[in-house]
Amino acid sequence: MTAERTPSIAVVGSVNLDIVARVQQFPVPGETVTDAVVERFPGGKGANQALAAHRLGARVSMLACVGDDPAADEALSVLRDEGVDLSGCQRLAGVSTGLALILVAASGENQIVVAPGANAAFEPARLALPEVDAAICQLEVPMATVHRAATAGRHFFCLNAAPARAVPGEVLDHTDLLVVNEVEAAAIGDQLPGFRGLLAVTQGARGAMLSRDGREIARASPPAVEVVDTTGAGDAFTAALTVALVSGLDPQAALARACAAGALATTRLGAQSSPLAAELDHLGATLG
Ligand code: RIB
Repeated sequence: MTAERTPSIAVVGSVNLDIVARVQQFPVPGETVTDAVVERFPGGKGANQALAAHRLGARVSMLACVGDDPAADEALSVLRDEGVDLSGCQRLAGVSTGLALILVAASGENQIVVAPGANAAFEPARLALPEVDAAICQLEVPMATVHRAATAGRHFFCLNAAPARAVPGEVLDHTDLLVVNEVEAAAIGDQLPGFRGLLAVTQGARGAMLSRDGREIARASPPAVEVVDTTGAGDAFTAALTVALVSGLDPQAALARACAAGALATTRLGAQSSPLAAELDHLGATLG
């Protein structure tokens, strides 16, 4: 990527410990499956996006709440080891760190249940947003905190409206880049056609579309990959798109890079398996 500058990014969002059970097939309601292999991974949409942006060369600070339990260190371990700024992560006494129970089928699809723990206690009063080029939020922390992150300061604001829920109009009004999949787009509903910023709609293996002011400006497909685990693919996509746009890449190149980041993230197990900038550069050169 020929980036014009290294962006500074604050990610305001969730930190979870992911307990992942790999199964051949998802059980149907009332069924028990007995072939699971269980592993633990750091996760949370916020933490995954912070790591993904850091791996793509941004200067990243993670603003989040964790509990005062051993799960907090485990959940933050990869961010800490790789050098994301965690000075904005608060450890709350008497609260559990967020926990996600994740089933991953042999197809790579997942089902996720989240117990938010400390993420739910990340109230706006706890948010001290540094001056940054861009802030990224998701919807695993209170909406009032998302609102504060969107409106405090003059940064480029990216909202990954996941998990699916309605978003107040005032937050959308302050959003420069909205990233949704088709389910999340439906949850935003009637407000979406009036959205004036950049809108990225992801469609899994079919790629993604980028529009501005309701007009399509780019469309891209992901490279063909062997899918192991789709968990965190949307997080890698969101981070890569934000980093690329804020670095000055044109919309088509930025979207293609984000699709490639999402695809590469599915080739490895766990939600923090997003690629390095060099891997994307190499893939881009290979694909021409
Ligand atoms: O986007 C994937 C993430 O969603 C997982 O890491 C899990 O923690 C949930 O927040």
